[in-house]
Amino acid sequence: MIIAIDGPAASGKGTLAKRIADLWGLPCLDTGLLYRAVARDVAARGFRLDDPWAALALARSINAGELCDPELRTPKVGDGASIVARMPMVRGALLAYQRNFSAQPGGAVLDGRDIGTVVCPWADAKIYVTATAEVRAKRRYNEYVCRGEPVVYEAVLADILKRDERDSSRESAPMRAAADADLLDTSELDIEAAFDAAVGLIKRKIGQ
Ligand code: DC
Repeated sequence: MIIAIDGPAASGKGTLAKRIADLWGLPCLDTGLLYRAVARDVAARGFRLDDPWAALALARSINAGELCDPELRTPKVGDGASIVARMPMVRGALLAYQRNFSAQPGGAVLDGRDIGTVVCPWADAKIYVTATAEVRAKRRYNEYVCRGEPVVYEAVLADILKRDERDSSRESAPMRAAADADLLDTSELDIEAAFDAAVGLIKRKIGQ
């Protein structure tokens, strides 16, 4: 069974994807980490983030087995990821890995921006997770505060709005709900309620 979880930054899709994967005993891939790894490597080698050839070369050489570097979670790398993610060649270079991951025996859960539309349009269940920009910014802000990182709420909100715009307006695989995705607005839901709602949607879709 393949489950696609898409949605904008800080919508809660990553947490939901992991919990859904645990429930069904499936492997889970946070595809944003692939784009984040490319952005980190481009910057670390001193290239410009909008240099398509550098980004392509590094996308082809990322070690997808090593995605636990804490630097990948920083706002700077997240911002860079949405820049390299605009490039069709970079997206193409990362596609095979994502599709191979989804093709494991038993299936997989993948979360990202284009899983239901491009990576696995044949997924058995697709959920597009949303929440207002203000709610998402508050969640992200709280995460940074918990990690002891100095941060200003307004700056987090501005970053979320900028990323939404970049991710949804790009020509190649823009962030979008698939026509057959179930929408889940988590603005007024805590994680437990969002998880219960997501499980209900998936069970209905797969006929359980
Ligand atoms: O989900 P995230 O915040 O870790 O994603 C970082 C960036 O990577 C996001 O702004 C856009 C890009 N991305 C993408 O274009 N397609 C995906 N499937 C996942 C992430």
